[in-house]
Amino acid sequence: MIYPIVAYGDPVLKQVAKDVDLNDPNLPDLIESMFETMKNASGVGLAAPQIGLSKRLFVIDSNLIIDKETSDEKGIKRAFINVQKVEEFGEKWGYNEGCLSIPNISEEVKRPSTIRLKYFDIEGNEHEEDFSGLTARVIQHEYDHIEGILFTDHLKSLKKKLLKRKLTKISKGDTSVAYRMKFSGGSLIKK
Ligand code: NI
Repeated sequence: MIYPIVAYGDPVLKQVAKDVDLNDPNLPDLIESMFETMKNASGVGLAAPQIGLSKRLFVIDSNLIIDKETSDEKGIKRAFINVQKVEEFGEKWGYNEGCLSIPNISEEVKRPSTIRLKYFDIEGNEHEEDFSGLTARVIQHEYDHIEGILFTDHLKSLKKKLLKRKLTKISKGDTSVAYRMKFSGGSLIKK
């Protein structure tokens, strides 16, 4: 099932998400739907708050942004459940980020090169694992979502001021987008 993606301005995107019940029988279907929703929107990551669920759950497919010709990084397609950040380390680097909840805007965000996470996989196994490269970048962006943080929150205040009008327009549904979205200003859904 393809969910509409919640647009900038919806309070669910500002909430710190809660753990899911690992024994919830609907969890596998939900994860499958999240992968489907991400793919439909040509995204590389999708966090549960972006479909209106304040849960500590996200899916990624970093293969989609790794240039196989110039990079030997191996991408991953995976669901991360009940995720907790252990630490971030390594030199900060800038990358132009976008977000399915904030269409038609992208800005450079600087983040440390490596992130260490604790999470459960879809089989219910717990992991503690380090990620780097573009996979880390996608994870850091999605992890922010379950902490109620958007990439625009990382921008300098001048940049934020310059984007304010565009962001207000997005929150009202005044934007052009190729996938279904849900806008907080009147819960309008348009394609
Ligand atoms: Ni995002």
